[in-house]
Amino acid sequence: MLAGKKILLIIGGGVAAYKSLLLIRDLQKQGAFVRCVLTPAGAEFVTPLSVGGLSGDRVYQELFDLTAEAEMGHIELSRSADLLVVAPTTADLMAKMANGLANDLASTLLLATDTPVMIAPSMNVRMWEHPATQKNLKTLKSRGVLTVGPDEGDMACGEYGYGRMAEPEVIADAIGDHFEFAASAETTLGTPQGLRGKRIVVTSGPTHEPIDPVRYIANRSSGKQGHAIAGALVAEGAEVILISGPTRLDAPSGCTLRAVETAEEMLSETLNALPADAVVCAAAVADYRVEAVAENKLKKDDENDARTLSLVENPDILKTISQLPNGRPELVIGFAAETEKVIDHASAKRARKGCDWIVANDVSTGTGTFGGDDNQVTLVRDAGNESWPKMSKDDVARRLATKISEALKP
Ligand code: PMT
Repeated sequence: MLAGKKILLIIGGGVAAYKSLLLIRDLQKQGAFVRCVLTPAGAEFVTPLSVGGLSGDRVYQELFDLTAEAEMGHIELSRSADLLVVAPTTADLMAKMANGLANDLASTLLLATDTPVMIAPSMNVRMWEHPATQKNLKTLKSRGVLTVGPDEGDMACGEYGYGRMAEPEVIADAIGDHFEFAASAETTLGTPQGLRGKRIVVTSGPTHEPIDPVRYIANRSSGKQGHAIAGALVAEGAEVILISGPTRLDAPSGCTLRAVETAEEMLSETLNALPADAVVCAAAVADYRVEAVAENKLKKDDENDARTLSLVENPDILKTISQLPNGRPELVIGFAAETEKVIDHASAKRARKGCDWIVANDVSTGTGTFGGDDNQVTLVRDAGNESWPKMSKDDVARRLATKISEALKP
């Protein structure tokens, strides 16, 4: 996918800058043309000589560089690329990008560009986890900036956690995936907005099943995957009704939110939202609810043994919609959250519930699927299984929206 692609690599200041030298090699081996920008901080870690030696091109460093401007102005430099990759992306660079600062060459290029941008963050774990950085990340993602990493591990500063820049081969794979996805979107849709005129219902988040006025049964779903799908479908032009259990997320702009708490409410709102062309059930619905919800808070010394909860099965929303005798949507998609034999269990679930597609994801301990920003899924369909590489939930959502668009095409 990289043959002939023009990549502008911005090397920020971080210990991981040396990995960007390997990245240049990796991309070139795959046929890409790599042009490099080295920030002043980046030049503290790798020299212009080694960057230029590897890229085989001049290295751009200064905003006000008359020679560079005469050869190629900075606007042209950013726009002539097919993709801008910032690796390593420091907390400072992320903050500049999020806030539109343009006081050096790298930030000016990033503000002036109209081509896609991918960042590979690299910083100390506390800096990564700081609310300011996480807010900047959210802002950048909402603008469509692609992210790869950071990874978890030992840091140069001696601490441990998330903040290590993704390995060069992982960044190269993510770049390849980006071009592959862009190519498939172009060939299958021709133009974006392939879902114009389609109405799609998406369920997202967990359900809360009350035990008494203060307690409930829930699960670890954050709603990130379901909300991202709603956003991607809106971007493709669909009218989207997002039926969400309790989450901390804002509904993506452009969709209609119906907030619910329990599985029964979610079923009722989903049925109310029909007719629809497609339904995507990404919610993690509690399979059981408490048979008799206590009117008052259960006490430790309650006569009724508060340690034993009697549960009854909740309605299955996906199964109900998939098996509707009348008004079944053309396309019904479920998710399967599995911890073992992921594909086998997902395929069995698809048959049992009667949905058209199942998106299988591994939620075993350590994957970080529940609540995390990334997901690795396999799309299980009659046409065969498609395993997608690990990517951000936003990218999973965009890919799924493209697939839905292809499937609903007249
Ligand atoms: O929310 P995030 O933190 O981003 O995490 C995303 C996710 C892991 C929750 C999501 O990607 C996912 O896998 N959602 C489905 C979780 C789930 O409940 O899976 P399940 O295997 O238990 O259910 C299978 C399917 O049946 C799902 O489509 C579910 O929405 C649906 N279902 C389940 C039970 C029920 N009573 N009604 C349903 O509709």
